[in-house]
Amino acid sequence: MSTPKILLMSGSIRSGSINTRLLASIMGELSRMDCEVTRISLEDYALPIYNGDDEGREGVPDNAVKLAGQFHGHDGFFMTSPEYNGSLPPLLKNAIDWTTRVGSHPDGKELVPFRGKAGAIGCASPGAQGGVTMLYHLRDVLMRLGVLIMPEQVSVPFAMEGFDEMDRIKDDRARGFLEATCQALVERASRLGD
Ligand SMILES: Cc1cc2nc3c(=O)[nH]c(=O)nc-3n(C[C@H](O)[C@H](O)[C@H](O)COP(=O)(O)O)c2cc1C
Repeated sequence: MSTPKILLMSGSIRSGSINTRLLASIMGELSRMDCEVTRISLEDYALPIYNGDDEGREGVPDNAVKLAGQFHGHDGFFMTSPEYNGSLPPLLKNAIDWTTRVGSHPDGKELVPFRGKAGAIGCASPGAQGGVTMLYHLRDVLMRLGVLIMPEQVSVPFAMEGFDEMDRIKDDRARGFLEATCQALVERASRLGD
């Protein structure tokens, strides 16, 4: 087993995002485990809303290739995302869609952003349900792309009050899910090279 490389990304770039706070919590947990962690923000990978006509005219944007390269360069990832009307927000879905188009870019041909990667997902929501419907949708999308998605996942309901000043999850149950999900992810990712 080798030390796995894990990518962390939030599906929100809102200042004060509860999902980015959840990502900080995940980062804290992973820092105690045997893995190398890289955290990125979609703010640094701005992409237009996908339109096939634009792709035909202008090709795949460099930022899509950069983003796909990040996923390609890691054994696994932990993605957090808000729930918007029971599903993924457009920022995240658009970014995922663009990263699956990089094969037609001269620098993107060799990149495999999702297939065979270990993946884990989480959601923080102000509501009582903790974004579970979004988690089902995101899980489906990632499975379709060939991600080895962890059965474990983390959901933080009532998340506006859910974190302490160090961005640690206050609720014991949700923190237990986070620990279990991180553990499963690191174990799975570390076996990928075997
Ligand atoms: C268009 C829209 C739809 C939303 N739909 C849901 C929803 O279905 N379930 C939910 O728990 N919260 C929903 N919310 C509230 C978000 O969970 C809340 O704004 C949250 O803070 C967004 O995550 P962030 O803080 O990480 O940006 C919605 C918010 C917006 C803007």
